[in-house]
Amino acid sequence: TRIAVVISGSGSNLQAIIDGCKSGQVEGQVVGVISNKADAFGLTRAKNADIAAIALPLKEGENRADYDLRLGDELEKLDAELIVLAGFMRILTPEFVSRFAGRLLNIHPSLLPKYTGLNTHQRALDAGDAEHGVSVHFVTEELDGGPVILQAKVPVFEGDDADALAARVHTQEHRIYPMVVNWFCQGRLAMMQGKAELDGKPL
Ligand code: GRF
Repeated sequence: TRIAVVISGSGSNLQAIIDGCKSGQVEGQVVGVISNKADAFGLTRAKNADIAAIALPLKEGENRADYDLRLGDELEKLDAELIVLAGFMRILTPEFVSRFAGRLLNIHPSLLPKYTGLNTHQRALDAGDAEHGVSVHFVTEELDGGPVILQAKVPVFEGDDADALAARVHTQEHRIYPMVVNWFCQGRLAMMQGKAELDGKPL
């Protein structure tokens, strides 16, 4: 399976997926990495792994629809069968989402449906939650609202700050994202009528 990863930042999840492909844990290959931030460290990770690294910064005055068209065109040029959003910090248009319907995955650092959007770790701390975690989901038009495929929980410890909690969550992200990507590559995972299915059974 030809995988494209779309990022904005450090790309530690990207790295976990690259490593998974290399080790054989993921039955696919990362054929390109696209970043809206030209200086994202994830692009360096791609180059280091001999993967096409594409910087796609927003043009001055460019609207969301036009940017998403360019992004979609780059993904089609890569012939990507699966598009993995890994720390991509832009909201996608409904047109983009429907162009790649059922082939778009995202990872969100909360136990969805809790804490869509930003600053999830601090919000979990502020709420006094005893546990927190991460969700991998199919992307739909609704921000962080698509069907959840897999979640991992972590405990919240007394004295945690947002960084400590984020680090604990990240460890789980790197474990579950390659796993879900591999399910897709194996043809076991699909979105049917807006619901996620694994091996033909609803999740
Ligand atoms: C992760 O916390 C992910 O859940 C969120 O953005 C962050 C990306 O981290 N969507 P990295 O760039 O993969 O290190």
